[in-house]
Amino acid sequence: MKETIWRPYTQEKTAANPIKIKKAKGCYYIDEEGNRIFDGISSWWVNIHGHSHPYLAKKLSEQMELVQQIIFAGHTHEQGETLAQRIVELLDNQYPKVFFSDNGSTAVEVGLKMALQYWSNHHLKKNRIVAFKNGYHGDTFGARAVTDAIKEPTGLSENMTDVHFITAPLANDPISQESSIKELKDLLSRFNDIGAFIFEPMVQGVAGMKMQDPSTLNKLLKLAHEHQVITIADEVMTGFYRTGKRFAIDYLKEKPNIICLAKALTGGILPLSLTLCQQKIYEAFYSDDKTKALLHGHSFTGNALGCAVANASLDLLETAETKTNIKNIENLHKNFMKEIEGDNKYEIRVMGTILAIEFKNQEKAGYFNSLSETLSQFFISKNMLLRPLGNIIYLIPPYCTTEEDLLPVYQALKDFIRIHI
Ligand SMILES: Cc1ncc(COP(=O)(O)O)c(C=O)c1O
Repeated sequence: MKETIWRPYTQEKTAANPIKIKKAKGCYYIDEEGNRIFDGISSWWVNIHGHSHPYLAKKLSEQMELVQQIIFAGHTHEQGETLAQRIVELLDNQYPKVFFSDNGSTAVEVGLKMALQYWSNHHLKKNRIVAFKNGYHGDTFGARAVTDAIKEPTGLSENMTDVHFITAPLANDPISQESSIKELKDLLSRFNDIGAFIFEPMVQGVAGMKMQDPSTLNKLLKLAHEHQVITIADEVMTGFYRTGKRFAIDYLKEKPNIICLAKALTGGILPLSLTLCQQKIYEAFYSDDKTKALLHGHSFTGNALGCAVANASLDLLETAETKTNIKNIENLHKNFMKEIEGDNKYEIRVMGTILAIEFKNQEKAGYFNSLSETLSQFFISKNMLLRPLGNIIYLIPPYCTTEEDLLPVYQALKDFIRIHI
């Protein structure tokens, strides 16, 4: 046994010893030996402004002197109210009700409950759910039940609800686009108890940064709405300019009924998440009957420190400087893509600040592809934290990342291809 801590997503028997980080600043970790490690994945896609940002630290410390954590039922605080109001406005006032929880998985749980209870509060049993093949929505049981990307060996979550997985409409792939429409139409004609359709808009993260065709996604949403299905956009990874636009649903004309936000919400400093819904969803819960309420809440719901740092993160996010940084990263990714594309041994794709390279080998593509170990070791040896998803390596850096930070990473990617592919 190596240590006391049981780590997330880790096969403890074969994993290397964890690297001890002493400090983190900007887009770098500093380990105990003084190595600077480039954080190419924004610390699991959460950190958007860089580590130890002085403005976020200041706002957090100011809040420490006021309110840290209070019960959010029957009580409220300034930071929570301000945050809810700001997010509602950023979404053009189309989602006027905001429910707080702690992480992406719980934001999804809440979204699913809102959708299914919407129907039961209307005295209808519509518990069937549609989701995308290869989609990922979190690790709690409900979120796992609608996840297809990483199959859990327990099989427990598969029995929780009736979930149907349809093909996702991938960009530049007309076959998948046609299949997705056909499969959804088929389900809608077979079942009249489909209550919800949950999806990662524009990019399926854990699937390997698989990018989608917005016009087909639009059609899918339209079809779902025509058949009285509640749509849930899981923006946990895509929100806050990851895809180039503020939210991935900004690529769509047809808007979902419910939106889940987490990860970058607090700038990646504290765990906090939001589930927003349209007025009609909220109204189904608004009643003299207590049992019609959304009976969900966590001890730390609406944590005031999390809300304060989320407000501070929004201050930074909406500055011209951050927007320019985001555009620069996208341009750098696109230039790199042009430089190396055109090889049949891999596919490269870019959207916003996300760049992914999918390598083809003899094995089944996906999370358990053994190229993952070769990729990990190669980049760790270069002090670059790029955590592959099986045969796919990707970059999703903090927005403060500059050309100077990215050039050595692009060079390392070229070296990997030259040596190993
Ligand atoms: C699209 C999506 N939804 C939900 C989650 C779960 O979020 P969390 O890890 O904060 O529970 C993730 C995490 O990667 C995600 O990518």
